[in-house]
Amino acid sequence: MKNEKTIKIKKNKIEQKVPRPQSGIVRKIYAALKKKLKYFRKLLEFIRKVNSWLIGIIFYISTLLLVLKSLNLLHNFEDNLFKITGIALCIFIFLFIILFYLSRYNSSVITQPRKFLIFCLINLGTLLLAHGILNIDISRYSIPATLTGMILASFIGGREALSCVIILGGLIGFISNFSIDIVFTFIIMGGLASLSMPFIHKRLDLFKIGFASGIMGAVFITSWGILQGWDTKIILTQSSFGMGSALVSAFLALEILPFIENLFGKLNYVKLLELSQLNHPLLVKLKEKAAGTYQSCLMVGNLAEAAAEQIGANSLLAKVGAYYHDIGKIKNPPYFVENLTINAKSKHEKVNPALSRLILVSHVKEGVQLAAKYKLPKEIKDIIRQHHGTTLTSFFYQEALKKDTASEIEEESFRYPGPTPQSKEAAIVMLADTVEAASRTLEDPSPARIRNMVENLAKEKLTDRQLDESQLNFKDLHLIQKSFVQTLTGSFHSRIKYPNNGQTAETHENKNGTNHPIEKKEKD
Ligand SMILES: [Fe+2]
Ligand SMILES: [Fe+2]
Repeated sequence: MKNEKTIKIKKNKIEQKVPRPQSGIVRKIYAALKKKLKYFRKLLEFIRKVNSWLIGIIFYISTLLLVLKSLNLLHNFEDNLFKITGIALCIFIFLFIILFYLSRYNSSVITQPRKFLIFCLINLGTLLLAHGILNIDISRYSIPATLTGMILASFIGGREALSCVIILGGLIGFISNFSIDIVFTFIIMGGLASLSMPFIHKRLDLFKIGFASGIMGAVFITSWGILQGWDTKIILTQSSFGMGSALVSAFLALEILPFIENLFGKLNYVKLLELSQLNHPLLVKLKEKAAGTYQSCLMVGNLAEAAAEQIGANSLLAKVGAYYHDIGKIKNPPYFVENLTINAKSKHEKVNPALSRLILVSHVKEGVQLAAKYKLPKEIKDIIRQHHGTTLTSFFYQEALKKDTASEIEEESFRYPGPTPQSKEAAIVMLADTVEAASRTLEDPSPARIRNMVENLAKEKLTDRQLDESQLNFKDLHLIQKSFVQTLTGSFHSRIKYPNNGQTAETHENKNGTNHPIEKKEKD
């Protein structure tokens, strides 16, 4: 009876806290307000989205005005109304195609206003530069198409940059009063630069791209000159301008890319190239303090780079991300299996499972902190933060269950804090990291055994929903697995073998503190 009374009182109190409309009119007002609130929320959402729309509209109007100015159509607006309408529609279609393409293949460029602003500025800058060059006494082939291709590719990826260069070529066609040779030269040089950027590995490669793009441009200008019946001297002069613009582009890219990066906090190839050098202070520190982790990171880098290339992701970012993914282990190297010498005892044996889990998980946080201290780009920090996703430190979880049967231990408390990989590159590093660690324990690895192991691990990550937000599709996952098998098969002979204390089969880590699957030792 007493209990019933208490429940009634509690119920009344709760009802008092939630105001309920009593009469019909109040109820109607209440419903109307609720509806208005919904509209208000929608309005706020729209304003947040409108930024990109606004930038897009300003970009469209600026491009249109530039084209109209180049074609001298702004003076007599009314007489040229039909022409202007035609051009406005053409430019609209051009921009619509590129935006539609980006929304399908790299939607973040459009959805993130900041990124979209940079994208529009690069395009508008190119058009303004082309307009300037075409109006001064210099060769028309000096338009730095190679520079545009390089900068765009470093921002939005090679394939996306190529499609953008094609559209820009079309717009330059308008600006140059429909000179088809300028359009083709721009697309050839800019297109080649765009497609080559994802494959650069060192600073010198920028000049290689510049040189190749210049040669292609010069060959086209020469053939165009022959078709037009130009003098040999003119052909040579014009071709050299094409070549010169490509080489200057490479030099400028080297200077401009870090500048733009600092201005907008955007990752670029030159910065990544600097970080990929093994003499970077942080990597040197890792090598000195945790030699095993360092070797493991290099191998994860190889695996990740090759796999990213296969699916058209940023291979340099994947490689550099892999190099730095475990830098947090610098703080407590002996707690991680790869840093133990043969016959060395695990530090975790003397430690409570919950504490072991803390030490293990903390390498992610420590890594992010070190990355911030050494001013690593956000993209690398994200890879460090996400490389374990929300996976379970199951060995320590099982140990805790065994030791503490009385109280309930939540599985969630033995998981990494996450988030799960948010990009293709972060997902590749996660998979490469898992595969690399498991491969250390493979005895007599045959291609079939390697394939089996890679497939099982990928399936495990997939079913644990670690790849849900990574933007990887099944085809990508298949190609990544294939690439891992190829890289591992090729490198297995020279692999460094780390000590394996031979633990459980399906667990995610052993008592030495790795979070990686250990192959089951077959019973004799
Ligand atoms: Fe790790
Ligand atoms: Fe790792």
